[in-house]
Amino acid sequence: MSKDYEIQTLGVRAGQARTEFQEHSEALFLTSSFVFKDARQAAARFAGEDEGMVYTRYTNPTVSMLQDRLAALEGAESCVATASGMAAILATAMVHLKSGDHVVCSNAVFGATIQLFNNILGRFGVETTYVAPTRVDDWRRALRKNTRLFYLETPSNPLTEVSDIAALADISRKAGALLAVDNVFCTPALQRPLELGADLVVHSATKYLDGQGRVIAGAVAGPKALVGDPMTTFLRTAGPTLSPFNAWVVLKGLETLEIRMRAQSAAALELAAWLQSHPKVTRVYYPGLPSHPQHELARRQQRAAGAVLSFEVKGGREAAWRVLDSTRLVSLTANLGDVKTTIVHPASTTHGRISPEARAAAGITEGLIRLAVGLEAVADLKDDLTRGLEA
Ligand SMILES: Cc1ncc(COP(=O)(O)O)c(C=O)c1O
Repeated sequence: MSKDYEIQTLGVRAGQARTEFQEHSEALFLTSSFVFKDARQAAARFAGEDEGMVYTRYTNPTVSMLQDRLAALEGAESCVATASGMAAILATAMVHLKSGDHVVCSNAVFGATIQLFNNILGRFGVETTYVAPTRVDDWRRALRKNTRLFYLETPSNPLTEVSDIAALADISRKAGALLAVDNVFCTPALQRPLELGADLVVHSATKYLDGQGRVIAGAVAGPKALVGDPMTTFLRTAGPTLSPFNAWVVLKGLETLEIRMRAQSAAALELAAWLQSHPKVTRVYYPGLPSHPQHELARRQQRAAGAVLSFEVKGGREAAWRVLDSTRLVSLTANLGDVKTTIVHPASTTHGRISPEARAAAGITEGLIRLAVGLEAVADLKDDLTRGLEA
């Protein structure tokens, strides 16, 4: 599909391949394997001389439609879908790193990503240095001769720090390393890292790409030489491919991605401004607020500020838990990226295993609350939070 189409159009239309029945909606191919016309065709498919389907661990038409749609949205030459966001990060590492390589990673990435780099890749001789996502010079200083990968999420979770993708892409390119950006918080509806110079985009499609909290899924997008060819081979061999059913769910989710991200970002901005002026709130973290340290950068590199915000309440853990426990509408769950608003207390859950000192150093205070804003009416969300804030 033409790259000239707008994001809204690509989300609805890109990648669709109709069968002979001319179905209007994308077909779900729930099949583990495909039948060959004759022995000659079977041999040609196995030899890679005929591009048709063989086995769903290799390729599946529904999964291919999702891959093509997401590639179009990210402005990428190719995309591979994976069984989860973590499988997407694993595939990136397995394909692009080897024993003896060094990674520079943001110290504010998803916890399981840090476990993957330290506890799993560390056992295979890959070393990782963690740096602050916003301090560009620290990334340059962390470079070694064997640095092969820069890895980051922007905005970060839960403090919404924004990394300068173009500046970091410049450093990694000159050093001969790849820059991979986890684009979960923005999605291509709000931010296209490849246009800013990143080499790879990683997704947990479990979040906003699905958007309705239904499935676990992941993806990597980028040039064919870095994604399509080597990662397809990795997924075929190692097996963390996406199920066609989950691919179909995410494919349908992408149709409303742009409108959801725009509406959820607008609601988050309204709530952030309201919280900032609330007497029980001491600080709000949201890139859409002019008070945010990287507000200007976020305006430059994102189309909107996203749906995740964090805020600190007076009174520490007790006051924060009161807000959580007083909600009747907002869901108390660690997930995000849903049309249903979710709330979590990072210090006692997602960041609970870190030492109190390290947590404090990272800015995860006892009074901090993370809100991932959904599609409910903002007035109802304010009422739901007010109950706990004013208790
Ligand atoms: C930013 C980010 N990246 C990756 C992941 C991992 O994704 P999944 O749970 O789909 O494996 C998550 C999950 O919460 C996430 O928030």
